Amino acid sequence: MTPQSNAAITAQNVTRKYLGGSFTAVDDVSLDFPEAQVTAFVGPSGCGKTTMLRMIAGLEDPTQGSISVYGEPVLGPGPDRGMIFQAYTSFPWLTALQNVEYGMKIIGIGKAERREKAERLLQEVHLGHAADSYPSQLSGGMKQRVAIARTLAQNPTVLLMDEPFGALDAQVRWEMQEMMIEIIEVEKKTVIMVTHDIQEAIYLADRIVFFTRNPGRIKQDIILDFKGGKRFPQKEALLAEPGYIDVERQLFAWMREEIQSG
Ligand SMILES: Nc1ncnc2c1ncn2[C@@H]1O[C@H](COP(=O)(O)OP(=O)(O)O)[C@@H](O)[C@H]1O
Ligand SMILES: [Mg+2]
Repeated sequence: MTPQSNAAITAQNVTRKYLGGSFTAVDDVSLDFPEAQVTAFVGPSGCGKTTMLRMIAGLEDPTQGSISVYGEPVLGPGPDRGMIFQAYTSFPWLTALQNVEYGMKIIGIGKAERREKAERLLQEVHLGHAADSYPSQLSGGMKQRVAIARTLAQNPTVLLMDEPFGALDAQVRWEMQEMMIEIIEVEKKTVIMVTHDIQEAIYLADRIVFFTRNPGRIKQDIILDFKGGKRFPQKEALLAEPGYIDVERQLFAWMREEIQSG
């Protein structure tokens, strides 16, 4: 695959081995991620989704191959790539507002500007009313909203999310997904998210890269054409869209193939 000129991220022949080279977690993966596209990594447990994401984040190095962001090789973590994990990562001794301001303070943004931006971002994640609350006073979903606002505050070009809503109950998860649609529309970041939730992947993503395991390779790489480039503020509207059910059924079929092949 040759890198596309509009690719925000390019992975070329990326392999990641563990256990002294005896186990291959990710095997010869090449992918281009166009700017502002939302990609979901889907596949069975252990197929290398997290490993691939961590290499893009610069938290792990490929054993072979290379990854670049806007043509610059990834040599480690950087503020251009914001990472959101399943576990909430706020500082317990800071309020929601102070948590969002923190990263901006580190990079030297002045008090007035960072206060204004933090307030805007808290509004964006529907947490304007809880600016002065401490994480211990917030629910799981609210803590994750703080983490998302905090990551956005550093103005990354790329947003990397690993099962970001995996610890939340079904209703909160649904609310978070709809909020993510708003954020994606406003922020226009290049997004890569890992999820094992098929419906979540179809709802949030423009494209799904489905991995197979042992070794982790790309099984399928599909653009969700049936959405016609639309993003649906309300999830039930997606479910009613012609073509939705075919994609869902296809993804379940791939997942079953993977589970049965052990
Ligand atoms: N640090 C590590 N050492 C050894 N094996 C690892 C390490 N990290 C991940 N693996 C293995 O690599 C494979 C892919 O892991 P991971 O990327 O976490 O999968 P996924 O996120 O798709 O569930 C798994 O078999 C996992 O056990
Ligand atoms: Mg994982």
